[in-house]
Amino acid sequence: MSNLQNIWHTNDIAELGLEQHVFELENAGLTIVPLEKTGVPMETIDRAIEKILARFTERTGGCPISIEEGPMGELEFDGQRKSRFPGMEDDQPQPTQTTLGQLIKLDRSLRDLVVNPVANALIDYIVGPEGNNAPQDPDKAPPKARRLSNGGTSFIKWQGEYGYGPNLGLHCDQNGSAHPWGRTSLACNAMWTFTEYSKEGGALCYVPGSHKALMAPSGSGEAHLAVPVEAPKGSLVVWHGATWHGAFPKLTPGLRLNATIYYRHLMVMSQENLRVTMEDEPWDDCENPDVMRELIGFDDRFPYSKPGRKFPRFVGSNVK
Ligand SMILES: [Fe+2]
Repeated sequence: MSNLQNIWHTNDIAELGLEQHVFELENAGLTIVPLEKTGVPMETIDRAIEKILARFTERTGGCPISIEEGPMGELEFDGQRKSRFPGMEDDQPQPTQTTLGQLIKLDRSLRDLVVNPVANALIDYIVGPEGNNAPQDPDKAPPKARRLSNGGTSFIKWQGEYGYGPNLGLHCDQNGSAHPWGRTSLACNAMWTFTEYSKEGGALCYVPGSHKALMAPSGSGEAHLAVPVEAPKGSLVVWHGATWHGAFPKLTPGLRLNATIYYRHLMVMSQENLRVTMEDEPWDDCENPDVMRELIGFDDRFPYSKPGRKFPRFVGSNVK
């Protein structure tokens, strides 16, 4: 950690007691924060689970689902199942995972997780400030550069051999970003575990220290380096955008469930146009509307729809 990072971030990190997690992010590229440390009540997690499962039933056209049993009915997926990961056949077996997006629209409980101060302090730590060299007011914290890339996604995964292939789908979340990469995380995830995470239960996996390679994995031969992210329900898992990660197949009954909140540096293009998609949504119904406003980027200068700068006018002209 450089001195500059110390100056930028010490206050939030120290006040929230997150030094150990910052150390792990620097060295391993991933950290697991227990629920107690995030200040989130288990009722918030349970309410979010209830809303996601209800939405699953609605979106599938009526398939019941539970944490213990998974989907309780036959499901079909449209189209040919092409894999996005190398080393896998194009025609895969029936998937045993689906994703539900735009979680912040779904319920207040999920909006509260998005603005959680611990998640945001750690994301702020790895994303860093704007990169503007203009002098800052020394008495004020510099403006935060972390923004949402999308409204959050739940990975709903149930028992099955279907997985991400022999290389466990290892990839980086800032894959599309221009090289060279550096210390700054350009896009990265804060994931809330809604079920216990174990290797057999299809946990996230990652390669400790891989963010220091500053490049994506090759796509073969790296899986033996991956370790499972094993954590109890309600944990917060934060990792750097350059950290190699994937997941194990879920070999146990029931669901593996999460809420994965995808953040970005403000100069990196977002996946979702949140300023538009959230305009008429109840975004300010949450524990910290100021942080939500900042994360959505409502007041950001870019991208603009009309240039804001005044054009000079010929003195005496009648043209408006
Ligand atoms: Fe990822």
